Amino acid sequence: KETKKQLIIDAGQKHFGTTLCKSCGMIYTVSNPEDEMQHLQYHHRFLEGITYMGWKRERVVAEYWDGKIVMVLPRDPSYALKKVEDVQELVDHELGFQQVVTKYPNKTKTFLFVSDEKKVVGCLIAEPISQAFRVLSEPNASKECSRAWQCSDVPEPAVCGISRIWVFRLKRRKRIARRLVDTVRNCFMFGCFLNTNEIAFSDPTPDGKLFATKYCNT
Ligand code: ACO
Ligand code: ZN
Repeated sequence: KETKKQLIIDAGQKHFGTTLCKSCGMIYTVSNPEDEMQHLQYHHRFLEGITYMGWKRERVVAEYWDGKIVMVLPRDPSYALKKVEDVQELVDHELGFQQVVTKYPNKTKTFLFVSDEKKVVGCLIAEPISQAFRVLSEPNASKECSRAWQCSDVPEPAVCGISRIWVFRLKRRKRIARRLVDTVRNCFMFGCFLNTNEIAFSDPTPDGKLFATKYCNT
């Protein structure tokens, strides 16, 4: 054990250790060829997937000093649906969803947060629902199985289900998710601003739950 450690230190020199790629957000080991290869592959795919060149007829539903939100609907041109598909694939990969659903259900609304650098740095996929089951807080739940929330078995009325919400790792905690949800509440149903109890987050991750709890209480 001692010798192995020594070897790594000797071979590593100035490139030893983990690096964070400032473009794609991946953390990898520079001195490890396999890691470097994996990073290169991910890097290209990621940047290709999120690059947004702008569309002739884009539906800008909100504008901010650091970007804008574009809404994509089921009957939009194929280049728009293709972009949504690419982003969803990245998101599903990050969330650990095995199966990528490529079809675009006809009631889904997608919201893309596009940064000033012409990158999709946030994505929210919403669909109409009629009921939701409230997540019950579990004071003594173990932290390890933190994804298996216990849900109430009493359905409550809801209008809009958020099936995915994602923000690019390096752009988190800049209120991008908050602005996406605000926009959905405003745009999901024409002519009304949805209450927080009319929206529901499906199968939230620990990050998703922290965000949702904070969002719904403020
Ligand atoms: N830990 C603690 N509090 C948090 C976190 C967190 N990881 N994320 C958000 N919050 C709270 C904070 O109070 C924050 O306000 P503050 O920064 O002023 O303290 C508030 O929520 C608003 O946060 P935003 O900046 O709007 O959230 P962000 O843009 O960082 O996006 C998100 C949050 C989407 C959950 C992001 O962390 C992410 O993409 N995670 C990985 C993907 C994921 O898990 N998505 C949720 C899946 S569940 C689903 O899709 C239904
Ligand atoms: Zn990279």
